[in-house]
Amino acid sequence: MTVENDINEYLKTSYLGKNFKWFDRISSTNDYLKEEAQNLCDGYCVATTEQFAGKGRRGHTWISSKGQIVAFSFLLNNSFHVNLPPITLMCGLAVTKALNNLTQKKFQIKWPNDVVYQGKKICGILCESKIDRKNCFSVCGIGINLLQTEDFFKESNLAHGTSLLMINGSSPAKEQVVAEVLNQFELIYESLKIGDDASINNFLNEYQNNCVTINKDVKIIKTDSEIYGKALKINRDGSLCVESDGKLIDVMASEASVRGVMGYL
Ligand code: BTN
Repeated sequence: MTVENDINEYLKTSYLGKNFKWFDRISSTNDYLKEEAQNLCDGYCVATTEQFAGKGRRGHTWISSKGQIVAFSFLLNNSFHVNLPPITLMCGLAVTKALNNLTQKKFQIKWPNDVVYQGKKICGILCESKIDRKNCFSVCGIGINLLQTEDFFKESNLAHGTSLLMINGSSPAKEQVVAEVLNQFELIYESLKIGDDASINNFLNEYQNNCVTINKDVKIIKTDSEIYGKALKINRDGSLCVESDGKLIDVMASEASVRGVMGYL
């Protein structure tokens, strides 16, 4: 059996992941899709358990131990829809719902798109888009910790990291994890593409109900300043509405990172 066959066993999508390529090892699944996008079809997915140049948000590298994670990216052609919440938030909700389904545990989103369990991060998401005269696509990249132990996170100085093994005592097969995220994402994306108020409000409610940041006292870290306040809600454009000193501030994910006042959450 190949990984491709195994993924198909779990996929319930109509196009996402139907074309799938597995790499034993690759620099970055996001970079691969960005380079090859023009030759690949909508929903194409690449995955691996070893990235040697994995990329994180804000130009960071994404450190992952060989064979203990699953890293995958999928391509969305013509992915620019006015007035929809950002795709990266859709990915956060899709991963949260997928992990909840697979483990019966309660994972949550730390705005905008880290997925956490009891305060520790299990998944990172990096969505990258290209729009110019020749291209119009997004690449959604997701890395999920499967098999790392507590010692790995201690030794790597990643105090707030966790894995499915640590949470669940075992990890579902990587193929099942990837397929369930794709199943959940396609449902969310297709319902949002309708673009009516009901589907957008439905998404925002579901996101907020699963978001650990809402109603928390937070510290907003910008390049040149820090703001303390209380996170109230997610706006339609995906920004976080924070009350600070009696004023409402809308924080865009691209311009700031958010911490709890006591630490990571
Ligand atoms: C973060 O938490 O900073 C985001 C991490 C995103 C990692 C994923 S793994 C699959 C895809 N390929 C990459 O190079 N990065 C993303």
